[in-house]
Amino acid sequence: MDIVPLQPADYQSIVFFTGAGMSAESGIPTYRGKGGIWTKYHWEQVACEEAFRRDPEKVLTFHRERRLEVAACRPNSGHRIIAALEQQHPRVTVVTQNIDGLHGLAGSGRVIELHGSLWRLRCPRDGQRLEIKPGNDYPDRCECGAWLRPDIVWFGDNLDQDVINLAMESLAECDLFVSVGTSGTVWPAAGLPQIARRNGAYSLEINPEASENSRLYDQAYRAPATQVLPRLFPSVTGPVRA
Ligand code: OAD
Repeated sequence: MDIVPLQPADYQSIVFFTGAGMSAESGIPTYRGKGGIWTKYHWEQVACEEAFRRDPEKVLTFHRERRLEVAACRPNSGHRIIAALEQQHPRVTVVTQNIDGLHGLAGSGRVIELHGSLWRLRCPRDGQRLEIKPGNDYPDRCECGAWLRPDIVWFGDNLDQDVINLAMESLAECDLFVSVGTSGTVWPAAGLPQIARRNGAYSLEINPEASENSRLYDQAYRAPATQVLPRLFPSVTGPVRA
């Protein structure tokens, strides 16, 4: 596959828009497709407010398992290239649908987590938030007695308006939009490529398979993230591999 390297300096503001495929090569399963989380579990039973109200222990067990799975995984070279690029370029933002925290672990500083984080809990009663760390124990209940839910966006939940605003700001200024590993099926995140396009950004899709949004991109690379990103940004691969 021919990959035309990009010169980051040609762009004022770069946005990486990432989904589960970004972390697939770290060993974290995607949601859809072969081996996907939603082929093994019904989200109606483990990832919505109604399920949490009906059977909080079942929902919390599912998320405890997700955390154990993620804690055993490391950022891959794709995450690390994006993080290294931020060191070399004045404006690099990651807008991610992922809740695994791997962009931050790789060293990215400007990460907008559209769907929240597995590593934060929230009390539905008093709104308190609790940051948690891989390997550390954490409570199931708040001091007020209520079950603590993961501070993530479940099916049927609204996205946090402040988080949406931050994402919109980054899209408004972005002139290079690189989408990595998302099926483009979950809204409102799926609308971001269209917004970037309308704002005039040059846009690329990195995904071994065509997605719902493929027609919106100027260029598509049909290969895994860790194969495309080093060749797309050869100037940052040196320190990343070291
Ligand atoms: P999906 O599981 O829907 O899609 C993953 C995409 O990654 C697919 O299009 C794959 O072809 C692609 N892919 C797989 N391996 C890849 C690789 N190595 N490199 C690049 N691409 C690869 O995941 P998302 O689009 O992220 O919601 O799903 C969106 C949301 O649905 C998630 O944020 C999650 C889920 O329900 C929440 O967690 C709230």
